[in-house]
Amino acid sequence: MSPAAPGYLAPEGEPSSGVADPTADRSQNASGAPVRRVRVQDLARAKAQGRRLTMLTAYDALIAPILESAGVDMLLVGDSLGNVVLGHTSTLPVTLGDMERATAAVARSTSRALVVADLPFGTYEADPAQAFANAARLMQAGAHAVKLEGGQPRATTVRLLAEGGIPVVGHLGYTPQSEHMIGGPRMRGRGDQREQMLRDALALQEAGAVALVLEMVPADLAGEVTASLRIPTIGIGAGPDTDGQVLVWSDMAGMGDWAPSFVRRFAELGAALHAAARDYVQAVGEGSFPAEGNFHAH
Ligand code: KIV
Repeated sequence: MSPAAPGYLAPEGEPSSGVADPTADRSQNASGAPVRRVRVQDLARAKAQGRRLTMLTAYDALIAPILESAGVDMLLVGDSLGNVVLGHTSTLPVTLGDMERATAAVARSTSRALVVADLPFGTYEADPAQAFANAARLMQAGAHAVKLEGGQPRATTVRLLAEGGIPVVGHLGYTPQSEHMIGGPRMRGRGDQREQMLRDALALQEAGAVALVLEMVPADLAGEVTASLRIPTIGIGAGPDTDGQVLVWSDMAGMGDWAPSFVRRFAELGAALHAAARDYVQAVGEGSFPAEGNFHAH
């Protein structure tokens, strides 16, 4: 087992890493103490103490416990589900039903990480009441917070959700749900957009957001936003000066052939899976699987 990540918020005594044991009792830590969820208050505390936060996406009950057992603080049920799992070319076709099922699977299969669920496109922009009704469905599916894209124009919605007991994570910079307005994936926050992003970040914080994702933002601006806020910032393609980092798990683990340049591939799982499936096909073909020990003769 490798040591806990620097930002790991696990209660003392809890095993901090290693591959998830599907038979493990996840209600207790190694000392028998109940394992408790990371809460939004822990995020604020981490920022105050200068501890870096970690977030990865997760979409199902197979992967989520493995990531959690490695010490990840937050699991984001991102609407990147559309691209990663459902085979869409954007996040726009993702429905609330898609997000509810994925959120429920991630929440059911984990016991410690804070589960943040994306409000998908078309479920929160029209008015705050629409946003509250749909965010409530994600909370009922098991989320502990929801994430939505946009700045000042979303402040009223963030306030209504926060006042109604729903923690909100903001998302500024490149916001994939607006890709057709923005002109595709690109850095945001250069030139005239710089001051606006600072205003947006403050507006979200004042409205009650508990954290802020900064996607594809120049590193110096991400650092300035981070220094201006009490709430933690979580960067993706935003440099090292945010309070935490998030990556799409399958990019981080090297599942696909391509990933954006801001990604580090921490493994080559796609190649490993390919090799395993190829060996299986060969073993079945040549009759070496199943072998003794893989079946009962009587
Ligand atoms: O949906 C997602 O995966 C996200 C991350 C890229 C932050 O929003």
